[in-house]
Amino acid sequence: MPVNLKQQAGERATTFVEDGMVVGLGTGSTVFYAIRKLGELARQGMQIKGVCTSVQTMDLAHEYGIPVVEIEDAKCIDITIDGADEVDPGGQGIKGGGGALLFEKIVAANSGQNIWVVEKRKLVQQLGAFPLPVEIIPFGHSKLIRKMEEWKWRPVLREKGSEIFTTDGHHYIVDLHLHSIPDPQQLNAEIRKIPGVVEHGLFLDTVNKVVAAGPDKVEIISFR
Ligand code: 5RP
Repeated sequence: MPVNLKQQAGERATTFVEDGMVVGLGTGSTVFYAIRKLGELARQGMQIKGVCTSVQTMDLAHEYGIPVVEIEDAKCIDITIDGADEVDPGGQGIKGGGGALLFEKIVAANSGQNIWVVEKRKLVQQLGAFPLPVEIIPFGHSKLIRKMEEWKWRPVLREKGSEIFTTDGHHYIVDLHLHSIPDPQQLNAEIRKIPGVVEHGLFLDTVNKVVAAGPDKVEIISFR
């Protein structure tokens, strides 16, 4: 049977979760395995509570029996497990392929520890081959996209079927096909200045540990 790298990464990350913790639950196909495993641990008696980063994750938490607490009601979030789309050697990352970047960033910013679970192929030398998601408000979006085109950011409004994709926060996402991001901090500052932008998928100075699963082993890479 082929090795399921997402499963290996997701399940391994749950070994950092301790009894009594409030756990931020990320979104995506890799963190799915962490959520499923946490459900198993909860059923075995581990006292944990989950703070969800999307409706999709909330549904999974309910399905696997993880007690959920609203972010507003959580005194703290001890640890968050989430996926990522790209991670560079300094631990800077792109997230938001699944469209949950805004809630994911808020949960990450309020977490004592952030752990990302990835397949090893997502470890890159430089960010940007993966399109950078930018969450924008619907009002004036076509004007904003035209500006991004003028700046040669190659924006593509995300769609789902024949409809515009809408996030859980009722916003749109524009994916920037930049191909490379030589200076993520500078791009972060530039994107932040644009009216209509809510958030973007550059997660800078965020992650503490990356659990990266390759065909030969699962590696834990520690940052900050
Ligand atoms: C969702 C995300 C995901 O964590 C990211 O896209 C990775 O997803 P997957 O594990 O399915 O590849 O940021 O907004």
